[in-house]
Amino acid sequence: MPPRLLLAGPICCRPGEARNLSSFDVFYLSIMPTTDGSHDKTLAALGVTRPEQLAFLFAEIRARFDSESGAVRDETAFKQFRDAWLGRKSGVLAGITDNWLKPATPELKRAVGAGLNELRAHVDAQIESRRVVIESGAEETALAKERVDLSLPGVVRPIGSRHLIRQVFQEIEDIFVSIGFSVVEGPEIETPYYNFEALNIPEFHPVRDDMDTFYLELPKSGPGPLLLRTHTSPVQIRTMEKQKPPVRVIVPGKVYRRDNPDATHSFMFHQIEGLAVDTDITFCDFTGTIEYFVKQYFGPSVKTRFRPSYFPFTEPSVEFDVSCIFCGGSGAGPGGATCGKCKGSGWIELFGAGMVDPAVYGFVNYDAKKVSGFAFGMGMDRLAMLKYGIDDIQVFFQNDVRFLKQFP
Ligand code: PHE
Repeated sequence: MPPRLLLAGPICCRPGEARNLSSFDVFYLSIMPTTDGSHDKTLAALGVTRPEQLAFLFAEIRARFDSESGAVRDETAFKQFRDAWLGRKSGVLAGITDNWLKPATPELKRAVGAGLNELRAHVDAQIESRRVVIESGAEETALAKERVDLSLPGVVRPIGSRHLIRQVFQEIEDIFVSIGFSVVEGPEIETPYYNFEALNIPEFHPVRDDMDTFYLELPKSGPGPLLLRTHTSPVQIRTMEKQKPPVRVIVPGKVYRRDNPDATHSFMFHQIEGLAVDTDITFCDFTGTIEYFVKQYFGPSVKTRFRPSYFPFTEPSVEFDVSCIFCGGSGAGPGGATCGKCKGSGWIELFGAGMVDPAVYGFVNYDAKKVSGFAFGMGMDRLAMLKYGIDDIQVFFQNDVRFLKQFP
């Protein structure tokens, strides 16, 4: 508590009041909180010698109590407040009992006792009513927290869409399913036997260089080498092992190659394999099927052509081209320039294919003299890029929603 300041009565009183003061009576200045800590001192130390001075002291303490009480808003504050006033050892009331009442002079004792009783009654009553208010408030807050407002709008989660690659898979599958093909799948982790040997690619065949691939690091005691498939063609073998002709399947899936990423290459991309084997399947059935597919996919005005190519598992092998869908096959670009997409040739390379090499039938116990068939392997990403005018394969795998949102 700051030193109690006092003014000589006549100076600070209003005229008239001064007359009621005895010569040494004074006004204490009410400098808040003047009573802070006064309960720790004896009345003698506070300079209180006469009962009339007590009224002021108690009034101040009470005023302090009331203002503190009004500031109590929650349970923690309430407990602190209650202990500060009613605590057995260091509470304000205990302090008044110990420091004011017990050592009080006989002429002050009665008045201190009376003032203390009155203050205690006030403090008890107030603290009790504060407790009721705080507890009901706490209950209300708890209830308010648990309350569910059913009228609030729900959490709106944006609805995603299928990736363009998935959509194109679906489109292509629908076309082939409509002409009697079924959809099968195979493992992305393959043995060299299915990925190479059974496709007529022996260990030291030069085409393996192109397909140099990702081998899995496995314990030496394991099942032998495994790799990420470089094409969907192993599923040709897996299918023919499982079923006798007629076979008409397409195989959508991911494939992996040791390609450096650029606008047209990715270490992982998508293919759709096709395989049809039966008695009497001719090259005409083959080109007719491809022609049908290409027209369904790109539109009726496109033309197809094939060029000789080489794959160890087809003979003859071809590369299918489609007339350039950007310049309509004319080779001319805007403003008399050459078409940038087909480089003026009017044709765009589409995919590899061919009649199944009879050697392959040997690996699956088909009689090469009785059956014939064709196979093709299309790069899905390329087909999607051509149809939807995308010039960088990387955007398929970057998951940028600004791209994905364009294909809802
Ligand atoms: N598997 C070949 C590749 O990925 C494509 C292909 C499939 C060619 C079927 C002929 C027959 O390049």
